[in-house]
Amino acid sequence: MGKSSSLVYKVSEQFPAKFNKSFYILPISLALTTLLFIFIYDITTAGNVTRNLPQTNPYLLDRSLPTDNIPFDQNSENGDLVADPSRLAASERASQWLGNLFGISNGDYTNNKEAYHDEDIFLEDYKQMNKSLKIYVYPHPQDDPFKNVLLPTDYDPRGNFASELYFKKALMKSHFVSEDPDEADLFYMPFSISPMRTDHRIDVHGIPDFVKNYITNITQKYPYWNRTGGADHFYVACHSIGKIAFNKAVVAKLNVIQLVCTSNLFSQSYFAHKDASMPQVWPRQDDPPNLLTSDRKQLAFFAGAMNARTRAYLLNVWENDTEIFVHHGRLPTPYSEQLLGSKFCIHAKGYEVNTARIGDALYYGCVPIILANQYDLPFTDILNWKSFSVIVHERDIPILKRILQGISSEEYAMLQSNVIKVRKHFQWHSPPIDFDAFYMSMYELWKRRSVVKVRS
Ligand SMILES: *[C@@H]1O[C@H](CO)[C@@H](O)[C@H](O)[C@H]1NC(C)=O
Ligand SMILES: *[C@@H]1O[C@H](CO)[C@@H](O)[C@H](O)[C@H]1NC(C)=O
Ligand SMILES: *[C@@H]1O[C@H](CO)[C@@H](O)[C@H](O)[C@H]1NC(C)=O
Ligand SMILES: *[C@@H]1O[C@H](CO)[C@@H](O)[C@H](O)[C@H]1NC(C)=O
Repeated sequence: MGKSSSLVYKVSEQFPAKFNKSFYILPISLALTTLLFIFIYDITTAGNVTRNLPQTNPYLLDRSLPTDNIPFDQNSENGDLVADPSRLAASERASQWLGNLFGISNGDYTNNKEAYHDEDIFLEDYKQMNKSLKIYVYPHPQDDPFKNVLLPTDYDPRGNFASELYFKKALMKSHFVSEDPDEADLFYMPFSISPMRTDHRIDVHGIPDFVKNYITNITQKYPYWNRTGGADHFYVACHSIGKIAFNKAVVAKLNVIQLVCTSNLFSQSYFAHKDASMPQVWPRQDDPPNLLTSDRKQLAFFAGAMNARTRAYLLNVWENDTEIFVHHGRLPTPYSEQLLGSKFCIHAKGYEVNTARIGDALYYGCVPIILANQYDLPFTDILNWKSFSVIVHERDIPILKRILQGISSEEYAMLQSNVIKVRKHFQWHSPPIDFDAFYMSMYELWKRRSVVKVRS
């Protein structure tokens, strides 16, 4: 603490009192010009299909809706999504113009070559984290009636929301766990959301009460929560129903660190400054044998339920295309064939920004295309997503082919080699192995710990 006070500068030292008035004119006029450009840009790009996002019912989050229930863009007729070509052209022109002006190379989706923002700093930090981070896990007996919710599973977790159970299983087998709460940087509340959802004693509707009672219990029984109001406590959730978990513990939600798959920047239950994004990963063992040799004849691929506007738009624009294959529903052929046979694999947001498709693409060596505007991508403070994926604004779906055709074979080779580099960060193991999804998540938690330790 003494150290940090030396970092506080006196304002007067940095800003001498005497300033010539003309000194201000340049920055102020620059600021005004920038504002004007932003204003023009906003006008020319307004009215596109990404506005008026539908309100989804949190209780329906992972069920399929028939396509005719999808709330479409209000500007379109007959409930069909249509791109307005004049708007698109105007928006492209405006962004090109702005790009040229500020020297940003517009449309260059592969400007970055390094997989990490700074690999050396990351490795240095990672070692520090690996050595020092200590977690206290609230203990629960083996015969706890809610053992299924509170204790790690005996089996290897499976399915779409495996990440949250994998995290718990990996943590309990890691060297981060400490029995000594005084040594702990963080306190883990080990309840899992997906088993609560399927437990008839709790059910979806009982989740907020369970969480509220859990917090009341640890608040009464242990002194740790009251010291920080829960700010050094965390929990983990992958299922999107996790968003309602703290609905009856609202103050707690504002303090605890949430490690979640549903890292939606515009959602009221995710706060990027304290919460962290965990990848949703469909667990698979070993590598596919033809990861590097596979012949990728198809340009791009997507398959899935049409449960969101982004997907419906994608289908509407590309359904009959010969190079971009968009399939409504389950594929009749093996999923892995498409992932191995396509250059790019599309992750399009569904009910939520996250799906297992990014993990699927990386596992099969396919470069992901990300169509999920508000997604706080996993490990984005470490990984340079533009070096191994193509991030496309949802409104640019009509020019998707042009964007992909603009990527040269050298650029594609670079993207794919980075896919191979980063794919280990999107895999779970039990016990965990260095740099896998577990260790990366621990790193994100470590970044969010408080540097001031509280002792009772
Ligand atoms: C992290 O810690 C584990 C357990 O002490 C150790 O086996 C591993 O080598 C460490 N990794 C790094 C990169 O320091
Ligand atoms: C809270 O504690 C009570 C009394 O020990 C127990 O019956 C209940 O199951 C606990 N609830 C939770 C959510 O931990
Ligand atoms: C923590 O604070 C709550 C609310 O003020 C109180 O009811 C509880 O007894 C305190 N816990 C401990 C362990 O003192
Ligand atoms: C795709 O083909 C079907 C059947 O021929 C047609 O109804 C539909 O309008 C076509 N879609 C597009 C975007 O051209």
